[in-house]
Amino acid sequence: MTAPPGTSAARWLGRHKVELATCTSTSDVALAQARAGCAHGTVVVADAQTAGRGRLGRVWASPPGRHLYLSAVVRLDPRARPPRERAALTLAVGVGVVDAVRAAGATAAGLKWPNDVLVHGKKLAGVLCEATGDAIVVGIGVNLAGGPGALPPELASRAIALTDAFEPAAGTEPATIDRAWFTDLLLAHLEPWLERFLDSGPAAVIGPWQERMVPGLRLTWDQGGTNIVGRADGLDPDGALRLLDDDGRVHRVLAGDVTVVVLPPERPR
Ligand code: BTN
Repeated sequence: MTAPPGTSAARWLGRHKVELATCTSTSDVALAQARAGCAHGTVVVADAQTAGRGRLGRVWASPPGRHLYLSAVVRLDPRARPPRERAALTLAVGVGVVDAVRAAGATAAGLKWPNDVLVHGKKLAGVLCEATGDAIVVGIGVNLAGGPGALPPELASRAIALTDAFEPAAGTEPATIDRAWFTDLLLAHLEPWLERFLDSGPAAVIGPWQERMVPGLRLTWDQGGTNIVGRADGLDPDGALRLLDDDGRVHRVLAGDVTVVVLPPERPR
């Protein structure tokens, strides 16, 4: 936890960084930067967002001083992935985020499709990818600091902060997280997975994503008004979630959201 900020091992991701006190959404700023021709890998971070957004039009609570709000511009043209593959970029991002929070000490972190990062069933980080032209803006929110007032009360049962997610065995239990240090750590873990995706497409990330999936999650999926309940059974080669229902049927989830119904039993800690 003591590494000084500004020592990211990332090469191109975050080489150009825009740091703001506040903005509507770092993804708004990054989308504007992308349209204005900014460099591949440009990163926008803000201390607070006044209109932070999540997937499916949800609000992403973004109070100042506590958490990480980061958006990165990833240009797809240099290695031209076919459009049908692009949705799977979000899986690569999820893998990188899990690796970063695990490296920071949240060793129990895992993935819920498509890219929620959970610890003991609570959300530690979320990813929102938005396209403009040849670029994808990758928006990442990580709850860094716990304690009173860190997150809105209505999220208390569903969200967790990194400082509350350290496993005793990891031996790293700082009361606070240095945001600049964690940002560097995140970029360093994210860049190689983006590279692998840009070079090789979904095939490079499906296996690693499955290895990091929270095992045994029982989920519900709202399929156009019908709730399908089943167990997360991994991913198809195109990144679709395979939801195995109680009758043994496999449902392919390519869009929308899945909600946790039952968590697998906790491993002894
Ligand atoms: C989700 O889980 O629904 C996705 C949450 C994404 C939040 C991040 S915070 C940085 C970037 N700016 C936003 O407005 N959203 C993303």
